[in-house]
Amino acid sequence: MQVDGKEMRPIWPSEDMKTVQVIDQRQLPHELVVADLKNLDDIIEAIQEMYVRGAPLIGATAAWGVYLIVTTAPEGEISNEYLNRECDRLKAARPTAVNLAWAVDRIRPKILAAENREAKIETARREAEAIVEFEADNCRRIGEHGLPLIREISERKNGSTVHILTHCNAGWLACVEFGTATAPMYAAHEAGIDIHIWVDETRPLNQGARLTAWELGKAGIKHTVITDNAGGHLMQHGLVDLVITGTDRTTHTGDVANKIGTYLKALAAKDNGIPFYVALPSSTFDWRMRDGVAEIPIEERNPDEVRFIQGRDDSGAVRRVLVPPADSPAGNYAFDVTPARLVTGFITERGVCGANEQDIRRLFPDEN
Ligand code: MRU
Repeated sequence: MQVDGKEMRPIWPSEDMKTVQVIDQRQLPHELVVADLKNLDDIIEAIQEMYVRGAPLIGATAAWGVYLIVTTAPEGEISNEYLNRECDRLKAARPTAVNLAWAVDRIRPKILAAENREAKIETARREAEAIVEFEADNCRRIGEHGLPLIREISERKNGSTVHILTHCNAGWLACVEFGTATAPMYAAHEAGIDIHIWVDETRPLNQGARLTAWELGKAGIKHTVITDNAGGHLMQHGLVDLVITGTDRTTHTGDVANKIGTYLKALAAKDNGIPFYVALPSSTFDWRMRDGVAEIPIEERNPDEVRFIQGRDDSGAVRRVLVPPADSPAGNYAFDVTPARLVTGFITERGVCGANEQDIRRLFPDEN
C-alpha cells in the first residue's frame, strides 16, 4: 500500500534472504520502525509481543517463520524431529487466530516431503511467498465483493455519506494489502462513493486509534476515532449505516471470534437493524469447530496492557503511563465471540454469504 508515496507491506524478506523484516506495529502511528527477525525466537517474539498482529499477517509471519526454521537449522540434513518440534513451537505463539496453524500446517508437509536441505529451503521460500500473495489477492477480492454492499447503501441515500463503523484494525497492516474489513472501504473510495469511517479506538492496545486511523488517513479516507462505547449511541441516532469487522477465527457454522468488544457492537447493530458484516479470507475459517463460544480459545494477555496506555506527550516524546491505581488488578481478555445469529453475512474472496454452515459450505465446497 502507499505510505507517503512509497509502496509498503507489513512484512518482506531481506534482500539476502537471511532475515524477515516487519513493520513494528507497536510504534505506530508516531514512529515507523522496521524490525529484523533472524530466527524462530524472533518470529515468536514478534507475534507474541505484537510487532505483527491481525490474523492474516500472523499467518504470513508464521509462513516466513517456517522458512527461518529451515534456513537456521543445524548444519547437515534437517531432521523431521527438529522440523516438527520447531513448527509446533511456532503454532503455540498465539492461540486465537487460526491463520497461524493454517499457515504452518499448509507448509510443513511439503517441507517434510522435500528431499534434502536445499530442496527444503527452496520449498519453504516458495510456500511463504505463495501464502503472502494468496492473502494479498484474497483481500483484493474481498474489496470487490464488498463494494456492492456499500454502493447499494449509497444509492439508497442518494449519494450522501455512507457511515461505516469498524473495530480494531483489520486493515493492510493486519493482512498484506488492502485489509479485510477495510478492502471494501478502499474499493468504495476508489469508486468515488462518499464514505466516512467510525474507528473504534479498541482498548487496550488501541489498534483502531493507532493503526486503522493511520491507514485511512494515509489513504485520504474520511474517518473519526471514537471511544469503544460510542457505537451504540451513534447507531441509535442513525449515524451508522453498516458495520464491517475482521475476524481471527470463524467457525464453519458462522460464529466469529474477533477483538474484544466486537460482540457488543454486533448486539447494538442487531438492536438497531444495522447490517453487521464480517470480512475474511478462507484461511480464517475453522473447518472443525462448530460452537465458537464453547470451543474457540480466547487469549488472555498481560494485564499491564490494560493498566498502562501509550501515546505521544506535548513535547513529542512517546510515553507509557499508568491509568488505574497501582494496586488495582486488571483482566485482559483479548477476543470475544459473536454468535452467527448476530452476523448479517461474510465478505470472502469468493463472494458474500450468509452466516450459516450451508451458505459457507456452498462457497467453499472444497474445504473440509
Ligand atoms: O490482537 P490483534 O491486534 O492481533 O487482533 C486483531 C483483530 O482482532 C483483527 O480484527 C482480526 O485479526 C482481523 S485482521 C484482518
